[in-house]
Amino acid sequence: MPSTDESNMFTGRIGEEYGFLAVICPNVAILIRNLGAAVAAWKPGVAVRGLEIGCGTGLSTLSLLSQRENLHLRALDASPAMLTQARDNLSDYVAAGRVELIESDALDFLRRQPDVSVDVVASNYAIHNFHNDYRERVFAEILRMLAPGGLFANGDRFAHDDRARHLASTQAAVLRWFDAFAKVNRLDLLQDWIVHLLSDESPDHIMYRAPTLATLRSLGFGDVRSIYSEDVDMLVTATKH
Ligand SMILES: C[S@@+](CC[C@H](N)C(=O)[O-])C[C@H]1O[C@@H](n2cnc3c(N)ncnc32)[C@H](O)[C@@H]1O
Repeated sequence: MPSTDESNMFTGRIGEEYGFLAVICPNVAILIRNLGAAVAAWKPGVAVRGLEIGCGTGLSTLSLLSQRENLHLRALDASPAMLTQARDNLSDYVAAGRVELIESDALDFLRRQPDVSVDVVASNYAIHNFHNDYRERVFAEILRMLAPGGLFANGDRFAHDDRARHLASTQAAVLRWFDAFAKVNRLDLLQDWIVHLLSDESPDHIMYRAPTLATLRSLGFGDVRSIYSEDVDMLVTATKH
């Protein structure tokens, strides 16, 4: 498998019309707010070198930067279409030198970084998109880069471990999407999101809860826990000992 994750669909129409994410993930605003709050609560008062993986249009980046003043962030994304929007949405923070936006594949970028060079790694709704092997390599690189005591916080789509429950949740989501996209006559976008969902749900990509938390623990992360959970949306934090 190449290091680059070629399943990224945010380079096309989905990325250009990202406002529809709230339809796809009704809890996204809460997840994003809680991600920023978790980073703000970590060692308050200490200046933080942060890294965000898959910053997209900058929604999660805004939450991180606005809730923690002494955070300097490098925010990366592989999609130029998403980063163009992020540059607009974060222009004040870019001008103030609080954030650097980086166009890169996540794993390629992480591999080029020195050991113990970051205090906090955050991500929202990006890592579930990754191929399972690629995801595990990304987790290992995050651990390598984090300083001792450093925080990893990931808000994301985590599949229910109970297969029947997960299927029911996915079916309910698809029904909701048909209603919402048909109402605004955007079956073109619905088509893209369904294709995207099939990738997320495929055996090579699906991110089940318990195995993912177990992987983090087996790689060496400590204090691995879920601090928010609503249906498939969950915020996980972990620290480096
Ligand atoms: C659903 S969006 C989430 C964006 C943002 N974090 C938010 O909460 O709104 C997922 C983002 O991950 C990025 N992404 C997916 N695979 C990636 C990879 N391998 N390397 C870097 N970015 C990636 C996509 O381009 C997309 O912008």
